[in-house]
Amino acid sequence: MTASVRYTARVALIVALGGFLMGFDASVISGVVSFIGPEFGLNNLQLGWAVASLTLTSTIAMMLAGPLSDRFGRRPVLKGAAILFTVSAVASAIAPDYATLVTARMLGGFGVGAALIIAPMYIAEIAPAALRGRMVSLNQLNIVIGISVAYFSNFLILYLGQSEFAWARSLHLGEWNWRWMLGVEALPAIVYFLGLFSVPESPRWLVMRGKSEQALAILQRVGGRIQAEKDLGAVRKSLQAEASLNKGSVRELFVPAMRLVLTIGVVVAILQQITGINSVFFYAPMIFEQSGIGTDAAFMQAVMVGIVNLLVTIVAILLIDRLGRRPLLISGLVIIASSMLLLAYSFATAQYGPGGELIEMNSTLVLVGILSFVAGFGVSLGPVMWVLFSELFPNRIRGIAISFVGLINSSISFIVQLVFPWELDNFGPAVTFLIYGSFAIIGLVLIVRILPETKGRSLEELQAELVISR
Ligand code: BGC
Repeated sequence: MTASVRYTARVALIVALGGFLMGFDASVISGVVSFIGPEFGLNNLQLGWAVASLTLTSTIAMMLAGPLSDRFGRRPVLKGAAILFTVSAVASAIAPDYATLVTARMLGGFGVGAALIIAPMYIAEIAPAALRGRMVSLNQLNIVIGISVAYFSNFLILYLGQSEFAWARSLHLGEWNWRWMLGVEALPAIVYFLGLFSVPESPRWLVMRGKSEQALAILQRVGGRIQAEKDLGAVRKSLQAEASLNKGSVRELFVPAMRLVLTIGVVVAILQQITGINSVFFYAPMIFEQSGIGTDAAFMQAVMVGIVNLLVTIVAILLIDRLGRRPLLISGLVIIASSMLLLAYSFATAQYGPGGELIEMNSTLVLVGILSFVAGFGVSLGPVMWVLFSELFPNRIRGIAISFVGLINSSISFIVQLVFPWELDNFGPAVTFLIYGSFAIIGLVLIVRILPETKGRSLEELQAELVISR
C-alpha cells in the first residue's frame, strides 16, 4: 500500500465513522423501547413516536445537509452532525421525562440524515477514481457495523445489568439500562468529532470556492503530484463548462442535461428500499416466528441476518472497483428477486389450520430465502447505491442532488416499514414477498437498460459523459 493510499484510506475511515453512528443511532432504540414504555407510562402511539421521530428529523436533515454543505463545506456539516450525535446521546441518557427523550432523539436524527448523505459524498470527492467505489463502500460497511454493534451493546448492557459485578452495580447498569444503551454512543460521537479535525476539506469543494492552492495540496497527498495537477485541471474545466449555466439550484436538477443521471439516481433510490430491506431488518424476528420456529431461535436467526450483511458488504468492497458497479447491481438484483420468489413460495405452500394457525411449513426455506436476500442486497443495492449517488452528479450541484435522491430513499424506507405489518395482516407473507420480488424484477430490467458502468473514471470524466454532452 502506498503512502497516498494509506492516507486516503485513513481519511475515508474517519469520515465513514458517520455511517457507524448513523447505523448505531437508528437501531439502538430497538433495545430501549421495552423499558421506556413502563417507566414513562407510554401508550403505543407514544412508543411508536419515540422510535419513528428520528426518521422524521433525519429526512428533514437530508434536505438541508446537501445545500448547507455546498455553501459552507462538507467538513463543517459533518462536525455539526458529530456534535448533534454527542448531545443527543447524553441528553437522551439523562432525560427526566418522555418529552426530553423524544426531543433528544430528534436532535440525533438531524445528525443521522446529515451523516448519511454527506459522508459518502465527501469520500467520493477526495478518493482517487480507481479506489472510489471501495472507499465509499466503507461507509455502508460502517452503517452495517453500527447496526450490529448497537444490538450487541444493548445485549451486553442488559446482561451486565443483571450480573453481580460490583462495578456494574456501581454504574447502575441494571437500573439505568436503557439510559446506558443510549448514552454509550457519546463515546464514538466524540471520537468522530475529534477525528474530523484531522481530515482536510473536500478538494472539489475547495476548487468551487476558488481555493485551488489548498485543493492542490490535498489532491497531491491523495494521488501524487502528477495526478493532482491532472485532477485539478479537470475539476476547473468542468466548473467552467458549467459556469454558463445558472447558479446551482434545485431547478437545475430538472434540466434536460441531468435527465439520465437523475433517472438513475431516483430509480436506484426507490429500488434500494422498495425491495424490502428494512422490513427484513427491523422485523426479522417476527418473520422468522411466522415460519413456526420459537422466539429464541427467531432472535438467533436475526443475528445471522446481521452477520451475513456484514460479510457480503466486505465482499462488495473487494469487488466494486474490479468488477464494477453494473455487474454487482445486476447479479445482486437477480439474487434478490429469486430469494423473494423463494420466500413467497415457502409461505404459499405452508399449511394453515381452520383458525389460521400454522400446521406445517418449511422454515429452513424461509431462513435460506431471507439470508440470500440479505446477501443479494449487501453485495449490490446496499453499497452500490451510495457509490452511484456520490459519483453520478456534477460537482456544482452534487450536494443538492444527493439531498434529493436521499430524501426519496428515506421516504420510501419510511413507507415500506410502516405498511409492512399491515401487508402481512391483509395480504399474508406470500403475497407481500411476491410484491417485493416483482419490484426487484422491474428494477432489474430498468437497471440493465439505463445504468452505464462508472468504475475507474474520474468524477469529471463521468460528468462530461453523462451530463454535459447530453
Ligand atoms: C440503507 C438502509 C439499510 C441498510 C442495511 C443502507 O444502505 O440505506 O436503509 O437499513 O443499508 O444494511
